[in-house]
Amino acid sequence: MRIPEQKVEEILHSADIVDFVGQFVQLRKRGKNYVGLCPFHNEKTPSFTVNSEKQIYYCFGCQEGGNVFKFLMSYKKISYVEAIQEIAGDLGINIEYEENKFGVQSETEVLFDINEEAARFFSNNLLKSAEGERGRLYFDNRKIKINSIRSFGLGYAQTKRDALVNHLLEKKIDIEKAIELGLIGRTDKGVLYDRFSNRLIFPIFSPNGRVIAFAGRVFETSDNMAKYINSPESKIYFKGRILYGLSHSKDEIRKLNSALLVEGYMDLISLHQHGIKNVVAVSGTALTEDQVQLLSRYTKNVVLLFDADNAGIKASMRSIEILLKQDMNIKIVSLPAGEDPDSFVQKFGKDEFLNCIQRAVNFLEYQFSIYESSGKFADPVSSTEAIRELVKPIGLISDELKRSMLIKSLAEKFNLREKLLESETEKVLKNLARETGRVDKTVSKEEALQLIDKSVSEREKELKPLLKLEKEILQILLEGKSSILDYIFENIDVEDFYLIEHKKIFELVRTMNQSVDYFNVNSLLAKLNDETLQKYCIELSVDKYRISDKWDSNNVIENEKSAIKHAKDLVRKIKLIPIEQSIRDNFEQIKSVKDEKLQIELMRENSELNQEKKFIEQKYS
Ligand code: GTP
Ligand code: MN
Repeated sequence: MRIPEQKVEEILHSADIVDFVGQFVQLRKRGKNYVGLCPFHNEKTPSFTVNSEKQIYYCFGCQEGGNVFKFLMSYKKISYVEAIQEIAGDLGINIEYEENKFGVQSETEVLFDINEEAARFFSNNLLKSAEGERGRLYFDNRKIKINSIRSFGLGYAQTKRDALVNHLLEKKIDIEKAIELGLIGRTDKGVLYDRFSNRLIFPIFSPNGRVIAFAGRVFETSDNMAKYINSPESKIYFKGRILYGLSHSKDEIRKLNSALLVEGYMDLISLHQHGIKNVVAVSGTALTEDQVQLLSRYTKNVVLLFDADNAGIKASMRSIEILLKQDMNIKIVSLPAGEDPDSFVQKFGKDEFLNCIQRAVNFLEYQFSIYESSGKFADPVSSTEAIRELVKPIGLISDELKRSMLIKSLAEKFNLREKLLESETEKVLKNLARETGRVDKTVSKEEALQLIDKSVSEREKELKPLLKLEKEILQILLEGKSSILDYIFENIDVEDFYLIEHKKIFELVRTMNQSVDYFNVNSLLAKLNDETLQKYCIELSVDKYRISDKWDSNNVIENEKSAIKHAKDLVRKIKLIPIEQSIRDNFEQIKSVKDEKLQIELMRENSELNQEKKFIEQKYS
């Protein structure tokens, strides 16, 4: 099913971005814009800006920006279509879907539906069937309450190996798709069977709360059976990109600006049941960079709660590295040996658990205590080795300030010279660069946006005023006032611009201005297929601060005459820049040339240039 293009337009035009964003972010009016604390990164002073006129938002801190659809997608981690549906729902707009070519649902929708059907089946088995009594007893023994069972959609897979097969057949569900999802298996002889049977079922949700996979736990652990089995990866399930429980925890994580990272499904559910709801679980696999990136959207502060056994320590060391690489702030909690968060909170209760969290240590202290207890500081040789190991993770932090603070604290701890540790850190950085096969770092989001400015700084200083002007001209174009647009296009040519990116934007606005009734930034953004350029345009069009003072005061903008005057100023300036440059060059030449004839020639040129300069000054004053 598709949402018709026109409908999308209608929804976009009916939704007011200020109202919408205002539901999630506290906004204050400042000039033409609304500002607030950015929901996409942590900040103390507001750099998140919503522009009502252009119906876009932009954060000067983290460069997130876009229209209302994009906001909802980023904020709720939902798809484009879901964002549209949600906004339509809010506005009471009815969406009539277009059937697509085959008159069927999209492929992923089919997969979601099958998982949902299976989840319902497992859940009903647990809660309503006679055989489900076993499962009910199990969860009861583990002190899992009915509310948690409901909220996490827990289920029971029967001992019979074709219960789900039969159910899905009855529901006329495409079995091939169920096989693709790993719910159903097929033997060499072609016999269909349930892949999850005789197990307790934990549905795995997308951040948006849709069932994308399942985990199944055995009743009794034994050596010859995996304690948990999982759905395989599929078109809707990418293991390394999912954190179990995020769908249930994300609001609380955002609210508390901190996340507890645990290992298991039961840990997470148990903590939720005790009112500790800012938790996510890695569930089995090693923490991946994608998972960290996902989490960093909600908070930069993570408390690791891994088992105190050897495997747990190893896992936490690895996780620390991955978390540090993405500049997360990490604290580590060591639970008493033999306890996991589930058993601990069940045994000692919420307050005692929170006390443990209070006692969380930073990663250096944690690693230090691990090395210490394994006797690494017993002799000078292994001490040196251990200190090197301690320095390693520091090298992963890209924030220089943070890095030097940690080096300082480490130096103090060991009575070492800071310089020594710094040079060790340098080594780590170099190794890291070599390992990843590139000496320069990858371009981060912010850096990508700054690229335009950076490439600028390399192209000689004298370009700066020109580029600033170019920006200002684009800014007034993006304001979308038709009289201004017409004026600019009559007087400025794409050749007047220096920067290729600016030329592109200028050309695009010109073409759009010719073909549409009225131009606005939103439609420009839709036409730009380059994300960096998109961001750049958003930045330009919300960036009030760099616009000249004249343009800054509110009244003036309303005033057509002053607006034209401002445009005129800019046109004059941009036209004068190359002429003034030529005049300077010409003057230098006159000074250095010995040949008299040539000198006269140059002076004639000089007076022509000065005339032209005067002409421009008069024309655009
Ligand atoms: P319970 O025994 O149910 O409390 O689980 P647990 O979370 O305490 O188990 P454990 O500490 O052994 O494992 C932590 C997490 O690792 C589990 O929640 C699973 O996500 C994952 N895990 C454990 N065993 C297996 C396994 O055999 N296969 C897979 N795929 N994952 C496992
Ligand atoms: Mn456990």
